[in-house]
Amino acid sequence: GEIVIAVDLGGTNLRAAAVDRCGRINNHVRYQTPHTDDAEDIVHAIIAAARECERRSAVDGARVRALAVALPGTVEAKSGVVMNAPNIPCINGFRLRAALTEEISWPVILENDANAAAIGEMWRGSARAHRTIVCLTLGTGVGGGIILDGQLWRGVDGAAGEIGHMSVEPFGQACNCGSRGCLEVYASATAIARMAREGLARYPNSPLHSIRELTAKDVYEHGLAGDELSREVFRRMGQYLGIGLANLVNLLNPELIVIGGGAANGWDLFIEHAQQEMLARAFPIPARRARIVRAACGDDAGLLGVAHLAFGSL
Ligand code: BGC
Ligand code: NA
Ligand code: ZN
Repeated sequence: GEIVIAVDLGGTNLRAAAVDRCGRINNHVRYQTPHTDDAEDIVHAIIAAARECERRSAVDGARVRALAVALPGTVEAKSGVVMNAPNIPCINGFRLRAALTEEISWPVILENDANAAAIGEMWRGSARAHRTIVCLTLGTGVGGGIILDGQLWRGVDGAAGEIGHMSVEPFGQACNCGSRGCLEVYASATAIARMAREGLARYPNSPLHSIRELTAKDVYEHGLAGDELSREVFRRMGQYLGIGLANLVNLLNPELIVIGGGAANGWDLFIEHAQQEMLARAFPIPARRARIVRAACGDDAGLLGVAHLAFGSL
Protein backbone atom coordinates (compact mmCIF):
# COMPACT_ATOMS: atom_id res chain seq x y z
CA GLY A 1 0.00 0.00 0.00
CA GLU A 2 0.92 3.66 0.21
CA ILE A 3 3.05 5.01 2.98
CA VAL A 4 4.46 8.29 4.20
CA ILE A 5 7.95 8.26 5.64
CA ALA A 6 7.51 10.26 8.81
CA VAL A 7 10.48 11.71 10.68
CA ASP A 8 10.41 13.17 14.15
CA LEU A 9 13.43 15.39 14.64
CA GLY A 10 13.87 15.89 18.36
CA GLY A 11 16.38 17.78 20.44
CA THR A 12 17.70 14.39 21.56
CA ASN A 13 16.50 11.67 19.16
CA LEU A 14 15.76 11.47 15.49
CA ARG A 15 13.18 8.84 14.62
CA ALA A 16 11.63 7.71 11.37
CA ALA A 17 8.88 5.28 10.50
CA ALA A 18 6.60 4.26 7.68
CA VAL A 19 3.01 5.28 8.35
CA ASP A 20 0.08 4.07 6.26
CA ARG A 21 -3.31 5.69 5.71
CA CYS A 22 -4.79 3.89 8.69
CA GLY A 23 -2.08 5.12 11.03
CA ARG A 24 -0.20 1.85 11.23
CA ILE A 25 3.47 2.37 12.01
CA ASN A 26 6.19 0.12 10.60
CA ASN A 27 9.95 -0.06 10.23
CA HIS A 28 10.68 2.34 13.01
CA VAL A 29 14.30 3.55 13.18
CA ARG A 30 15.92 5.67 15.86
CA TYR A 31 19.16 7.66 15.91
CA GLN A 32 20.65 10.36 18.10
CA THR A 33 20.18 13.86 16.76
CA PRO A 34 23.69 14.97 15.71
CA HIS A 35 25.34 17.57 17.93
CA THR A 36 26.30 20.08 15.30
CA ASP A 37 26.24 23.70 14.29
CA ASP A 38 25.87 22.83 10.63
CA ALA A 39 22.32 22.50 9.30
CA GLU A 40 23.60 20.23 6.51
CA ASP A 41 24.40 17.58 9.15
CA ILE A 42 20.76 17.69 10.21
CA VAL A 43 19.64 17.35 6.58
CA HIS A 44 21.89 14.33 6.10
CA ALA A 45 20.68 12.71 9.30
CA ILE A 46 17.05 13.13 8.23
CA ILE A 47 17.79 11.72 4.77
CA ALA A 48 19.74 8.77 6.21
CA ALA A 49 16.89 7.86 8.55
CA ALA A 50 14.32 8.24 5.78
CA ARG A 51 16.34 6.10 3.36
CA GLU A 52 16.85 3.37 5.92
CA CYS A 53 13.13 3.33 6.56
CA GLU A 54 12.41 3.29 2.81
CA ARG A 55 14.81 0.38 2.33
CA ARG A 56 13.05 -1.68 4.99
CA SER A 57 9.61 -0.73 3.68
CA ALA A 58 10.50 -1.79 0.12
CA VAL A 59 10.57 -5.37 1.38
CA ASP A 60 6.85 -5.02 2.17
CA GLY A 61 6.19 -3.64 -1.31
CA ALA A 62 5.10 -0.28 0.09
CA ARG A 63 5.05 2.80 -2.12
CA VAL A 64 6.40 6.02 -0.60
CA ARG A 65 4.16 9.06 -1.23
CA ALA A 66 5.88 11.75 0.82
CA LEU A 67 8.52 12.63 3.38
CA ALA A 68 6.90 14.29 6.39
CA VAL A 69 9.10 15.87 9.05
CA ALA A 70 8.02 17.04 12.49
CA LEU A 71 10.59 19.42 13.93
CA PRO A 72 11.13 21.30 17.17
CA GLY A 73 10.60 24.79 15.83
CA THR A 74 8.27 26.90 13.78
CA VAL A 75 8.23 26.61 10.02
CA GLU A 76 7.14 29.27 7.59
CA ALA A 77 4.67 27.30 5.48
CA LYS A 78 5.18 29.13 2.19
CA SER A 79 8.97 29.12 2.10
CA GLY A 80 9.71 25.99 4.12
CA VAL A 81 12.20 28.01 6.12
CA VAL A 82 12.65 27.22 9.81
CA MET A 83 11.91 30.44 11.66
CA ASN A 84 12.80 29.44 15.16
CA ALA A 85 14.15 26.25 16.70
CA PRO A 86 15.50 27.17 20.14
CA ASN A 87 16.86 23.69 20.86
CA ILE A 88 18.46 23.04 17.44
CA PRO A 89 19.74 26.55 16.75
CA CYS A 90 21.72 25.62 13.62
CA ILE A 91 18.50 25.23 11.63
CA ASN A 92 17.21 28.71 12.53
CA GLY A 93 16.60 30.56 9.30
CA PHE A 94 17.55 27.49 7.25
CA ARG A 95 15.68 26.53 4.05
CA LEU A 96 15.01 23.04 5.27
CA ARG A 97 12.34 22.09 2.76
CA ALA A 98 14.47 23.14 -0.21
CA ALA A 99 17.50 21.29 1.17
CA LEU A 100 15.50 18.07 1.66
CA THR A 101 13.86 18.37 -1.74
CA GLU A 102 17.29 18.47 -3.37
CA GLU A 103 18.10 15.06 -1.91
CA ILE A 104 14.91 13.13 -2.56
CA SER A 105 12.12 13.01 -5.11
CA TRP A 106 9.10 12.70 -2.78
CA PRO A 107 7.07 15.74 -1.79
CA VAL A 108 8.35 17.14 1.52
CA ILE A 109 5.98 18.26 4.27
CA LEU A 110 7.31 20.07 7.33
CA GLU A 111 5.39 20.74 10.51
CA ASN A 112 6.09 21.87 14.03
CA ASP A 113 6.45 18.78 16.25
CA ALA A 114 3.82 19.76 18.80
CA ASN A 115 1.34 20.77 16.11
CA ALA A 116 1.93 17.34 14.64
CA ALA A 117 1.44 15.71 18.05
CA ALA A 118 -1.89 17.51 18.47
CA ILE A 119 -3.03 16.17 15.10
CA GLY A 120 -1.74 12.69 15.95
CA GLU A 121 -3.63 12.65 19.24
CA MET A 122 -6.80 13.75 17.52
CA TRP A 123 -6.39 11.17 14.77
CA ARG A 124 -5.31 8.15 16.79
CA GLY A 125 -4.94 9.14 20.44
CA SER A 126 -6.75 10.54 23.45
CA ALA A 127 -8.38 13.46 21.60
CA ARG A 128 -10.41 11.34 19.18
CA ALA A 129 -13.95 12.70 18.97
CA HIS A 130 -12.84 16.12 20.21
CA ARG A 131 -12.75 19.32 18.16
CA THR A 132 -11.20 21.99 20.32
CA ILE A 133 -8.07 20.87 22.08
CA VAL A 134 -4.74 22.11 23.29
CA CYS A 135 -1.81 19.72 23.25
CA LEU A 136 1.37 20.23 25.26
CA THR A 137 4.53 18.18 24.79
CA LEU A 138 6.99 18.18 27.68
CA GLY A 139 10.31 16.99 26.29
CA THR A 140 13.66 18.65 25.63
CA GLY A 141 11.52 21.74 25.11
CA VAL A 142 7.85 22.45 25.74
CA GLY A 143 5.73 22.41 22.60
CA GLY A 144 2.15 23.41 21.97
CA GLY A 145 -0.48 22.55 19.40
CA ILE A 146 -3.85 24.28 19.23
CA ILE A 147 -6.78 22.78 17.37
CA LEU A 148 -9.85 25.00 17.17
CA ASP A 149 -13.06 23.54 15.87
CA GLY A 150 -11.19 20.72 14.14
CA GLN A 151 -8.59 22.97 12.50
CA LEU A 152 -4.95 23.27 13.47
CA TRP A 153 -4.36 26.93 14.34
CA ARG A 154 -1.07 27.89 12.69
CA GLY A 155 -1.43 31.64 12.94
CA VAL A 156 -0.79 34.05 10.09
CA ASP A 157 2.84 33.02 9.65
CA GLY A 158 2.80 29.48 10.97
CA ALA A 159 4.19 30.68 14.27
CA ALA A 160 1.18 30.12 16.55
CA GLY A 161 0.99 27.65 19.39
CA GLU A 162 4.35 28.33 21.02
CA ILE A 163 3.00 27.46 24.44
CA GLY A 164 6.45 26.63 25.76
CA HIS A 165 7.46 30.25 25.43
CA MET A 166 4.56 31.77 27.34
CA SER A 167 6.04 33.97 30.05
CA VAL A 168 5.19 32.52 33.43
CA GLU A 169 7.85 34.26 35.55
CA PRO A 170 8.85 37.87 34.87
CA PHE A 171 12.44 37.65 36.10
CA GLY A 172 12.86 33.93 35.62
CA GLN A 173 15.48 31.62 34.20
CA ALA A 174 16.96 32.47 30.79
CA CYS A 175 15.47 30.48 27.91
CA ASN A 176 17.11 29.25 24.70
CA CYS A 177 14.64 31.40 22.75
CA GLY A 178 16.29 34.57 24.09
CA SER A 179 13.56 35.46 26.56
CA ARG A 180 13.37 34.48 30.22
CA GLY A 181 10.86 32.85 32.53
CA CYS A 182 9.24 30.84 29.72
CA LEU A 183 7.12 27.82 30.63
CA GLU A 184 9.77 25.69 28.91
CA VAL A 185 12.41 26.50 31.54
CA TYR A 186 10.15 25.11 34.29
CA ALA A 187 8.13 22.34 32.69
CA SER A 188 10.40 20.56 30.18
CA ALA A 189 12.33 17.39 30.96
CA THR A 190 15.47 19.54 30.73
CA ALA A 191 14.04 21.93 33.32
CA ILE A 192 13.18 19.14 35.74
CA ALA A 193 16.77 17.90 35.69
CA ARG A 194 18.08 21.46 36.07
CA MET A 195 15.78 22.31 38.99
CA ALA A 196 16.85 19.09 40.72
CA ARG A 197 20.54 20.02 40.32
CA GLU A 198 19.83 23.51 41.64
CA GLY A 199 18.10 22.04 44.69
CA LEU A 200 20.90 19.66 45.70
CA ALA A 201 22.56 22.18 48.03
CA ARG A 202 19.34 22.60 49.99
CA TYR A 203 18.84 18.83 50.34
CA PRO A 204 22.21 17.43 51.48
CA ASN A 205 20.69 14.01 52.16
CA SER A 206 18.90 13.56 48.86
CA PRO A 207 19.79 10.34 47.03
CA LEU A 208 20.00 12.44 43.86
CA HIS A 209 23.52 13.46 45.01
CA SER A 210 24.84 10.08 43.92
CA ILE A 211 23.61 10.37 40.32
CA ARG A 212 26.15 11.60 37.81
CA GLU A 213 24.02 12.96 34.98
CA LEU A 214 20.61 13.62 36.41
CA THR A 215 17.63 13.15 34.12
CA ALA A 216 13.92 13.86 34.57
CA LYS A 217 13.43 10.10 34.86
CA ASP A 218 15.76 9.92 37.88
CA VAL A 219 13.88 12.77 39.53
CA TYR A 220 10.58 11.02 38.88
CA GLU A 221 11.73 7.65 40.21
CA HIS A 222 13.20 9.16 43.36
CA GLY A 223 10.10 11.28 43.82
CA LEU A 224 7.94 8.16 43.79
CA ALA A 225 10.28 6.59 46.33
CA GLY A 226 9.73 9.60 48.62
CA ASP A 227 12.72 11.88 47.98
CA GLU A 228 11.69 15.36 49.14
CA LEU A 229 13.85 17.25 46.65
CA SER A 230 12.38 15.33 43.73
CA ARG A 231 8.87 15.91 44.98
CA GLU A 232 9.55 19.63 45.37
CA VAL A 233 10.84 19.83 41.80
CA PHE A 234 7.66 18.26 40.43
CA ARG A 235 5.50 20.46 42.68
CA ARG A 236 7.16 23.55 41.23
CA MET A 237 6.94 22.20 37.73
CA GLY A 238 3.23 21.49 38.28
CA GLN A 239 2.61 25.01 39.58
CA TYR A 240 4.21 26.65 36.57
CA LEU A 241 2.38 24.29 34.26
CA GLY A 242 -0.86 25.24 36.04
CA ILE A 243 -0.15 28.94 35.46
CA GLY A 244 0.27 28.21 31.77
CA LEU A 245 -2.92 26.14 31.72
CA ALA A 246 -4.88 28.91 33.44
CA ASN A 247 -3.83 31.33 30.71
CA LEU A 248 -4.70 28.79 28.03
CA VAL A 249 -8.16 27.90 29.31
CA ASN A 250 -9.08 31.55 29.83
CA LEU A 251 -7.88 32.35 26.33
CA LEU A 252 -9.22 29.38 24.37
CA ASN A 253 -11.88 27.57 26.45
CA PRO A 254 -10.84 24.14 25.10
CA GLU A 255 -12.70 20.94 25.87
CA LEU A 256 -9.55 18.91 26.30
CA ILE A 257 -5.93 19.46 27.23
CA VAL A 258 -3.63 16.64 26.16
CA ILE A 259 -0.23 16.41 27.80
CA GLY A 260 2.51 14.23 26.37
CA GLY A 261 6.28 14.07 25.97
CA GLY A 262 8.82 12.31 28.16
CA ALA A 263 8.27 14.49 31.24
CA ALA A 264 4.57 13.57 31.22
CA ASN A 265 5.78 10.28 32.70
CA GLY A 266 6.00 12.23 35.97
CA TRP A 267 2.21 12.70 35.82
CA ASP A 268 1.44 11.39 39.33
CA LEU A 269 3.87 13.85 40.85
CA PHE A 270 2.74 17.03 39.09
CA ILE A 271 -0.81 16.80 37.81
CA GLU A 272 -2.61 17.68 41.04
CA HIS A 273 -0.43 20.73 41.55
CA ALA A 274 -1.04 21.82 37.98
CA GLN A 275 -4.79 21.34 38.29
CA GLN A 276 -4.98 23.20 41.60
CA GLU A 277 -3.01 26.11 40.25
CA MET A 278 -5.13 26.27 37.12
CA LEU A 279 -8.38 26.22 39.12
CA ALA A 280 -7.10 28.89 41.48
CA ARG A 281 -6.23 31.28 38.65
CA ALA A 282 -8.62 30.71 35.76
CA PHE A 283 -12.29 31.57 35.44
CA PRO A 284 -14.47 28.72 36.69
CA ILE A 285 -16.26 27.81 33.49
CA PRO A 286 -13.29 27.31 31.16
CA ALA A 287 -11.28 25.73 34.00
CA ARG A 288 -13.97 23.17 34.84
CA ARG A 289 -14.66 22.43 31.19
CA ALA A 290 -11.08 21.59 30.29
CA ARG A 291 -10.43 17.94 30.96
CA ILE A 292 -6.71 17.25 31.31
CA VAL A 293 -5.58 13.88 29.95
CA ARG A 294 -2.34 12.14 29.13
CA ALA A 295 -1.38 11.70 25.52
CA ALA A 296 -2.13 8.18 24.30
CA CYS A 297 0.21 7.88 21.31
CA GLY A 298 3.35 8.28 23.39
CA ASP A 299 6.44 8.94 21.33
CA ASP A 300 4.52 8.30 18.11
CA ALA A 301 2.12 11.25 18.25
CA GLY A 302 4.35 13.49 16.13
CA LEU A 303 5.06 10.78 13.54
CA LEU A 304 1.36 9.97 13.22
CA GLY A 305 0.28 13.59 13.04
CA VAL A 306 2.77 14.69 10.44
CA ALA A 307 1.97 11.62 8.34
CA HIS A 308 -1.73 12.40 8.60
CA LEU A 309 -1.09 15.97 7.44
CA ALA A 310 0.98 14.62 4.55
CA PHE A 311 -1.74 12.20 3.39
CA GLY A 312 -4.24 15.06 3.63
CA SER A 313 -2.10 17.27 1.39
CA LEU A 314 -1.50 14.75 -1.41
C1 BGC B 1 9.97 25.14 20.35
C2 BGC B 1 8.71 24.60 19.75
C3 BGC B 1 8.71 23.08 19.85
C4 BGC B 1 8.99 22.64 21.26
C5 BGC B 1 9.06 21.14 21.41
C6 BGC B 1 10.15 24.61 21.74
O1 BGC B 1 11.31 25.09 22.31
O2 BGC B 1 9.92 26.56 20.39
O3 BGC B 1 8.57 25.02 18.41
O4 BGC B 1 7.45 22.61 19.43
O5 BGC B 1 10.18 23.19 21.73
O6 BGC B 1 10.06 20.59 20.62
NA1 NA C 1 3.29 24.44 17.99
ZN1 ZN D 1 11.51 30.71 25.62
